[in-house]
Amino acid sequence: MKLISKVVVLASLALSNPVFAKAPSETGKIKGDASKGQQIATQVCAACHNADGNSVIPANPSLAGQHAEYITKQLNNFKSQDGKPATRESAVMSAMVAPLSPEDMTNLAAYYAQQKPKPGAAQDKALAEQGEKVYRGGNLETSVPACAGCHSPNGSGLPPNYPRLGGQHRDYTLTQLRAFRKELRSNDDNQVMHMITTRMSEREMQAVSEYISGLR
Ligand code: HEC
Ligand code: HEC
Repeated sequence: MKLISKVVVLASLALSNPVFAKAPSETGKIKGDASKGQQIATQVCAACHNADGNSVIPANPSLAGQHAEYITKQLNNFKSQDGKPATRESAVMSAMVAPLSPEDMTNLAAYYAQQKPKPGAAQDKALAEQGEKVYRGGNLETSVPACAGCHSPNGSGLPPNYPRLGGQHRDYTLTQLRAFRKELRSNDDNQVMHMITTRMSEREMQAVSEYISGLR
């Protein structure tokens, strides 16, 4: 009994921390139709993200196994809304999301979430080892938190807010870390990824991206 109440207290503490407090987006709660999503994915998205969402092009992210809520959020963030610029800039993806309805987005998210992610392998083992230290332990000296704390030790993430990273292309991950740092990508609520990346060196970003590419 005592142990259970302690766990409950810890869990509610975690939820009251502003970083963890975000409620799932309204659209994220709607359950998509994966078979309808598959039609759009095959006709439009497969050219760049591959039919099953395991992209073979390093600049294009793999989407297979990514959480549906996160995908829906990103697709919305690529769109400029109410005359405001998109919080996530990408010339390619803003053109892709323009014709999509909110329903199309949840259907696509449901489809990709159901696909099996293909495991990857790091190319540079020495660099990946440096990256592992950052991923698991952060950097105490510069107050970089461990990535594992939010993205989970095996990189599978934690829905609805924390995306899956494991096996993602190194080039894509590194581009995102640099974009968060420079606020070219500013769709991270509470600027959590912006704060973290401003504390990281270029070398640390390269190392952790290398490690993530082989993480499973
Ligand atoms: C011409 C190539 C191309 C096509 C076609 C394309 N994408 Fe993308 N997609 C990209 C690139 C490049 C990025 C990375 C953008 C960036 O750097 O932020 C991306 C990013 C994404 C992301 C963000 C992934 C993440 O991990 O944050 C999602 C979701 C996505 N695309 C879904 C789609 C869907 C759904 C379609 C079809 C309607 C589609 N894409 C069509 C190239 C493409
Ligand atoms: C306090 C929680 C937290 C920690 C710690 C954290 N992240 Fe994140 N990260 C997030 C959130 C939330 C997002 C999603 C932002 C959004 O909604 O687009 C994210 C997104 C990302 C993305 C974009 C994924 C994609 O598919 O585009 C990458 C890459 C990333 N984080 C890497 C890292 C790395 C590397 C570390 C460790 C140095 C780290 N994160 C530590 C919360 C965290």
